[in-house]
Amino acid sequence: MTVSEQPKIRLSEVTRAFDGVRALDNVDLTLAHRQSLVLIGGSGSGKSLLLKCILGLVNPGSGAIEVDGVSTIGMSDSARMDWMKRFGVLFQRQGLFDSMLIWENVAFRLLNEGDLNRAEAREHAIARLGQVGLPPETADLYPSEVSGGMQKRVGLARAIATDPDILFLDEPTAGLDPIMSTIISELINERVDELAATVVSIVSDLAVVRNIADSVVMLHEGRVVWSGPIAELDETDNPYVRQFVTQSVEGPIEMPELAS
Ligand SMILES: Nc1ncnc2c1ncn2[C@@H]1O[C@H](COP(=O)(O)OP(=O)(O)OP(=O)(O)O)[C@@H](O)[C@H]1O
Ligand SMILES: [Mg+2]
Repeated sequence: MTVSEQPKIRLSEVTRAFDGVRALDNVDLTLAHRQSLVLIGGSGSGKSLLLKCILGLVNPGSGAIEVDGVSTIGMSDSARMDWMKRFGVLFQRQGLFDSMLIWENVAFRLLNEGDLNRAEAREHAIARLGQVGLPPETADLYPSEVSGGMQKRVGLARAIATDPDILFLDEPTAGLDPIMSTIISELINERVDELAATVVSIVSDLAVVRNIADSVVMLHEGRVVWSGPIAELDETDNPYVRQFVTQSVEGPIEMPELAS
């Protein structure tokens, strides 16, 4: 197999249980270089956990995870620090540092790695903020001084700040208006097309899924219940996908009873 044929990310039979309940159950997944994969599924289906396992933040109980053919399970802390530099990550709750200015958050890695001085890093951060539609004035505010949707975009600016090879984006458009969602979708597509990034995102907005996905994996109770190219999302009669696409209450994805 040549390097170009090697999958960028490969998971095989990844299982992780908490208190005897499988939150990830025999997950297989293959993603080629320069592809955009979107994970879909109901709340608690294991989407965020899957990203954390690939990043090595949570150890799977069993199974194999490889990035560029290298196993990521059981890596030493120092090896992981180096390896993580290739990833740009937007966590579901952003994970911004409250005590740092927005530009310092965006430039966090650049400042830590010491390649740029503070003035250069600030300029770089302002350019990244511009790419996610935030004006330069935002740079000198604290995260608590901007709206939830703006914090989401700051998190995204930080994830792309070092032009990483692999992007993991947990709900990059949650809480954004539809126009801003389209702008962010285009930004994600640009990373794949121009910077040859490989992207795994978790998205529940169907318009965004259709805009950015090359392929889709659907999780339900920790299992992959469907996977396929985006073109097949509307063609398949898989009941889980149908329920998701039609946004229906009826179907195999059970919703909790609401108290009346
Ligand atoms: N560190 C943990 N300890 C215990 N249980 C966990 C842990 N992380 C995840 N889980 C459980 O694993 C399941 C999947 O969680 P996960 O966060 O991946 O859901 P999700 O698909 O991202 O949902 P949402 O769309 O609501 O964000 C849940 O039942 C959750 O409680
Ligand atoms: Mg989640």
